[in-house]
Parts: sequence; C-alpha cells; structure tokens
Amino acid sequence: MSTFPVSLRAGGRMVGISTHVRTLLTVVVMSAMAIAAASSAFAAEFIAAASPAVGEARARIHVLRREIAHHDELYYKKSAPEISDVAYDRLKRELAALEKEFPASATGDSPSDSLGDDRTGAFPLYRHRERMLSLDKSYSEADLRGFYTRLTKRLGRNDLVYVVEPKFDGLAVSVTYERGKLVRAVTRGNGIEGDDITANALTIRTLPRELRAAAPDGSTNFVPDLIELRGEIYLPLAEFNRINHEREAAGEALFAHPRNLAAGTLKQQDPREVAMRKLAIVFYGWGAYTPVTELPATQSEFHAHVRAWGLPGLASFSTARTADEIWSAVQAFDRSRPQLAFPVDGAVVKLDSVPLRNEVGATEHAPRWAMAYKFSPDRAETQLLAITVQVGRTGLLTPVAELAPVRLAGSTIARASLHNREEIARSDIRVGDFVYVEKAGEIIPAIVGVNTARRPVTSQAFVFPVACPACQTAVVRVAGETAVRCPNPDCPAQLRRRVQHFASDACVDIGGLGPAVIDALVESGRVKAIPDLYRLKRDGLLALNGVGAKSADRLLSALERSKHAELWRFIYGLGLPQIGTVSAKELARRFHKLDALAAATAEDFSAVLSASSSAALVAYLNVPRNRSVITDLLSLGVQPAAPVATTTIFAGKVFVLTGTLPHLTRADAEAKILAAGGKVSGSVSRKTDYVLAGEGSGAKLDAARSLGVTVIDEAALLERLREN
Ligand code: IVH
Repeated sequence: MSTFPVSLRAGGRMVGISTHVRTLLTVVVMSAMAIAAASSAFAAEFIAAASPAVGEARARIHVLRREIAHHDELYYKKSAPEISDVAYDRLKRELAALEKEFPASATGDSPSDSLGDDRTGAFPLYRHRERMLSLDKSYSEADLRGFYTRLTKRLGRNDLVYVVEPKFDGLAVSVTYERGKLVRAVTRGNGIEGDDITANALTIRTLPRELRAAAPDGSTNFVPDLIELRGEIYLPLAEFNRINHEREAAGEALFAHPRNLAAGTLKQQDPREVAMRKLAIVFYGWGAYTPVTELPATQSEFHAHVRAWGLPGLASFSTARTADEIWSAVQAFDRSRPQLAFPVDGAVVKLDSVPLRNEVGATEHAPRWAMAYKFSPDRAETQLLAITVQVGRTGLLTPVAELAPVRLAGSTIARASLHNREEIARSDIRVGDFVYVEKAGEIIPAIVGVNTARRPVTSQAFVFPVACPACQTAVVRVAGETAVRCPNPDCPAQLRRRVQHFASDACVDIGGLGPAVIDALVESGRVKAIPDLYRLKRDGLLALNGVGAKSADRLLSALERSKHAELWRFIYGLGLPQIGTVSAKELARRFHKLDALAAATAEDFSAVLSASSSAALVAYLNVPRNRSVITDLLSLGVQPAAPVATTTIFAGKVFVLTGTLPHLTRADAEAKILAAGGKVSGSVSRKTDYVLAGEGSGAKLDAARSLGVTVIDEAALLERLREN
C-alpha cells in the first residue's frame, strides 16, 4: 500500500509523524481549460512498524488522536482540510488498529469512534429524528468483495441484489418534508443533531418547496406524512470552474476543492451570499419516514419516488447481483468520471432490499448494508524547478511552483501555485525537491507531498519574500488572513493585472490589448490607472515597441467600442471588492448607471449585497483614488449600456419587501422584481408602488396601509410575473 516512501525511520523507531506533509498546493494544468485548479493535500505515508511496544503504541495513539482531532476541526468546522481524504482515512485506520491491539489505551471518546462533527455554533441546532450515519469505506477490490461475502454470510443467501451509486463529494444534509411541504434542512452535524441551514438550502434552485403529488400522467403520487430525505449538497464542477476562473482573473487565491467550497458556502450567514454560488442537491436516502407501512421496498423504488416527487435524484445507478458484477459496475463508473458534471470521490454499493437492510442493521458508525468504495487518485512524481511569486491585482502574493512537465490523467502539469507562505513553510517544500502530483476525485490536480528520499543534499528551505517582487514595497499581512499583500496601490504588477482584468473579454473586452501591450503601456508610464486607457492617442501607441499602425488603429477602435460595453462588465472590470459577475449584474440592474453606483450608500447596496459586502464597497468607493476611476471614465466618454430588463411589467415600479415569504427567499423575490424592470427600496414612502408582504410583516405593512400603497403577497407577485 505504501507508495510514498516519505517516512523517516531512525534506529528502527518511527519518527514519521512530523513528516506529515500538510501542503496545499495548487496545480495549474496546461489543458484547454487552463484553470489553475487547486489542492487537496496529503499526509506522508506511514510505514507501520511491527508491533511497537506498549509505551510506543500509547504515545502513537495519543499523537494520532491529536492529529485526527486537528484534521476534524479543519474539515468539519472550517471546511478547509489540509490533508486528503485518503491520508485522513489512513490515520483513522491506523488509530483503530492500534486501539484494537492495545485496548487498555482506548478511552471511549476516541475520534475513531466518532463520525466527525460539522456543527459551527453559528446556526440553530436541530436534532435529527433518525441518526445520520456514515459509511464504511473500502479502498481495494478485496475490501469490496469482503463486504459482499460478509453480507452473503450474514443473510445466509446468495440471491441478493445491490445498487451501485455515485458517491457525491459534498456536504450531507437531511431535508424534512411534512405533508409534502419542505420544513427544514439540517447538516449532518455530529449525526445526532446538526446546523439548521434551511434559509441557505432554499437558495438552491433545484430544491422544490413541495413534493409533487400529481404525477404528469394524472395519477396521484403517494406523499408521506413526514420524510427526512438524506442527500448531498454539492457544487457542480462547471460552477466551481466558473468561480475559480473569476478568481484567477481577479488575481485572487483559488478555491482548493469543490466540496470545501460547497461546505464553506453553505455555512455562510447571509443566504444572499449563498445564492451567488449555484449549489445543487441530490437525494440518495432517507431517515425518518411515516407512515412506515408505506416505506419503499427497495432502493430502486426509492429512486423512482424521488423522481416522481420532482426532486433531484440520481441520473443513473446500476444494479448488480454478484461480487463480479459489483466490481465491474464500480470500475465502469470510475471510467465514466471524466464525463461527470458533479464531484464524486467514489461509488456506494447498497443492498437494494429495505427489509433485508433492517435485518442486518447498523454498527455505531455505519449501516452494514452499504459500503463506499473510494477511488484512488491518479498520481505522478516530478521535480520542482522553481518557486516564483506572483502579484495579483489586489496585491495578493501567490507563490507558484514551476514543475518539470509531467503527464497526469490526460493533461500535462507544469505549474503549481502554492497556496501561501505558511503552507510552504509547514510542509518544507524546497526547490529541487521531487514532489507528488495527484488528481484526486475529479478535475483537481494537487501537489500532495515531497519525496524526501530524493531531496538534493544542498537544498535549502524556501524563504518567502518580505518585499513585493515587483515594486519592493514591504509586504503586509492582512489581519485574519494567512496571505500577504503588497500594499502599494501604484505597484506596477497590480496595475498590470487590473488593466488585464478590465480589458479581458469577461469584462469590457478590449481586443488587441494583450499582456505585452499592457506591459509596455505600464512601463512607459502611459497608463497609471484604468481610465488612462481612454486617453491613449495614436502617436503614443506607435511609440511603443512592437505596435504598428494597423494594431494601433485596431486597438483604438476596440477602445472606442468598449466605451459602450454593458454596465455590469464595467462594474465587474473595475475590480470592486467582493464583486464577481453575479453581483455585478445585480448591481447593474439595480443602479442602471455608473454614477448612481458611485453615489450609493451602504443601505442602497444592501438591497443587493450582504451587509459586509455593502460596507466593503462603500469603504472602497470612499477612497478618492478609487472613486476618481469612475468619474474619470465618465468624463472620458464612457457610456455603459444600461441593462435591458427581461420583462418590463414592473418598469419603474418601486417595491418594498417585508416579512418572510412562504417560498421565495428575499433574494429570489428581489431578483424577480429587478428582472421585470422594477426597483427595490428599503423603506416605504409615497414613492413606493407595491409592498410585498410575507408572514411577520410589521411597521412597513402599517406604513403601506396608512399611505394607501398597494400590498401584495408572494402568490400575487408570481401571478403577475406568470401573466407576463
Ligand atoms: S448513503 C447511512 N449514498 O458519503 C448512510 N451516502 O462517507 C447514508 N454520500 O455521509 C449515506 N454519496 O454524505 C449515501 N450515494 C450516496 C452517497 C453518500 C455521497 C456521502 C454521505 C455520507 C458519506 C459517507
């Protein structure tokens, strides 16, 4: 099993613990997508010593428990693991084995008994009616066949039917429907109780508020009195890539893994922030189910119910009857991974029959009727040729590993961006080292460890620069962040990246303004800020190295054209703090003009953004040099195209929202109003056209009534939109 000869042994005693490499490195794949994707990580392989003495075992158990508790905290509470699942499971299995061999050392509260815990303390807790268990995991064909043999023996029959499903890599949730209505969504938590994340889950567009009772053919679906549906909230890979592309363009650190990003997103306090990322959900099981007399008889039947209820279920699953069939279904699924649109980290094999499941029951951790099979990551070894440090447009310093090109799962890996200074130091990655590159699960390649056995004797620890490599300004560490930034707003590297972003086709799209021309413009001092682009004259361009008459003219007409780009492209292109394409579009719909945006208050922004984003934006716009970018653009003739509402039934109408709506989140309702040409305001006045009132409406509803403003409810709003 050991493929990483990384542990050190001294005099027969193991000292491998401190060699756990907890690196988060981002590998840039030279593929068509060329997205710099990110990391998982890795713990150095631990070479099991032959039965260490009791003292040593006890010490090792102690260390393992501490390590595991540390990784649990990172994984479940912070959604930012430092090591891969495989490495983590290895630690847990080692601990379980030692505890079994030396039972006297077991304390009863060992993490090897626990399921992990994702409770954050930031949400109300809710107790599951039925516990949410974990799954036993297997990593080899033999493990999986062992599961088949065990069940066959236990049930005393060999005509069992199994289903093989994808093992989705997201966050486990329990969504309760009572009499067909969604009432609650709760994370697994500690398996007994979890965080109530209902408001956040409701931002998931594919999660129905109600179970469909009428089948399309006119017949009626059975709807249980109560069902705890068990499933996974995950980030579709396309959405993960979109977010990372955006961050890459913005010179921001990339997200490491779709699972961590999904978990981090779902644990945000403001549902509007959650709604900015298009999470998805899938259902693969159930907990409590009443009346029990109506329980599905098989997993296949359950999947059919999920579809009939209009819920997102499995697109496909296979059925198997023998160990061979199970193994080939798992392998076939493994081969299909590159085509999948969602993150998976393995397959789950389940006994199909529900009565037989009840017969075999569960252990403390996991049902006996199911087994996960974790896919092994593709892996390669290559040399780290250099570590370069890039400066992003916000000044963020990102270390990049330059690798000897190596083939890995269909693409050539040549660069790896190391997350930050601390990660390099902690894992002691050195130039000249041979490193392991892995593609775990799906698209994500990562550098997961160092082959210290091949370390050149002359190698030296990497020293992170204390000054910006571009402008030599002393770098600063931002409070609460591990990253360091160059604080110089005139830093040429930052300026280059800002201009590059603004000119990119994702923003105002200035064709012909490539990196070389941008470099020349910045170096010659012709461009000191974005608006200077619109001050460029033909002569000035011709004076640049490598710019001929033709390209100068092309660039000038591209600049002219870009003055009329859509408003949201300017908003996004300006690189306002925390504003990606989604918020940029919403801001454009809300403010219609750049000067209106520049004059807006935090309260105005809060109709579209969360309180913290609104405050960050106002603080940014209050800095004179930031504000003057907008005023200069306008004075230079920039006239962004105002957004065209998709429908106009609410053109110019001012809405005020109050109370809790039965189905729509506030953000959803606002988005619908804005899309129909309406506006949303925070307070009721004579200018208000409609008050959209939900449950618990108070003062605003009273104000509406006393001013004679029309009050509508959600149903009326939706009706109006439908009519249109
Ligand atoms: S069944 C009682 N089916 O994997 C066991 N779990 O590592 C219920 N998971 O906690 C789980 N895909 O979050 C099941 N098709 C699938 C799954 C799946 C992903 C997750 C789930 C579970 C974890 C265990």
